[in-house]
Amino acid sequence: MTSASAAREPKYYLVKRHLLDIIESLPPGSAVPTERVLTVELATSRTTVRRALAELVGEGRLVRRQGSGTFVAEPKIQWPLQMTSFTAQASTAGYVTTTRLLEAVRTRAAEDVAQRLGVRTGGPVYCVERLRLVDDAPMAVETVYLSAARFPGLIGQIRKASSLYRVLADSYQVVPVEAEETIETASASPREAELLGVDTGSPILVLGRHSFDAGGEPVEYVRSWYRGDRYTFVARLRAP
Ligand code: GLP
Repeated sequence: MTSASAAREPKYYLVKRHLLDIIESLPPGSAVPTERVLTVELATSRTTVRRALAELVGEGRLVRRQGSGTFVAEPKIQWPLQMTSFTAQASTAGYVTTTRLLEAVRTRAAEDVAQRLGVRTGGPVYCVERLRLVDDAPMAVETVYLSAARFPGLIGQIRKASSLYRVLADSYQVVPVEAEETIETASASPREAELLGVDTGSPILVLGRHSFDAGGEPVEYVRSWYRGDRYTFVARLRAP
């Protein structure tokens, strides 16, 4: 490393690199030195150590356990991007999923939602917000919009079921077969942070899905806020 690049490296980043060396040498679940020890050992301030630790927690390299310390995190979950449901995909991978319904309302479509669902602006749509858990750990907050005219009575159905795609197939004979999926980053709002069990401002991966049935009719428009520290999304690509 040249002295010029070292000079540009902020102090907290040196602490972070030191911590990364420690992380790489230890198995998941091992404790890393406390804030106090690192502050003394590296002759730096507590704020600097905290910043390095916070970044590594946000990136999913470390986990904090209230009252017991900071530990090397388990490897992230590899989540293939596929045209399937959360429930089906998790069960194929051997995980147990649960769903908490946060909100299910009939509302008026805003312009972007209307366009995507092929309804008029202000037309009736359902907005369903759910917390998705994998092996009892909160993983994503998902907000889905569907046309109320196309799926009458959906709210009653979704209150009783944990899989939306199952409800669409069983009660409406609709199967999404194609979708456009987008991925963006965001920072957890206080509400998302509380629901997902992360700190406010933690990295979030926002997935958008606009799906269609075999006849090309739009089915759903979804925004999902996934914990950035727990997922690696995997897409298999093919040359066109
Ligand atoms: C994934 C997709 C969503 C879809 C959901 C359905 O999470 N990103 O677009 O609505 O699966 O999952 P389920 O059938 O488990 O409710």
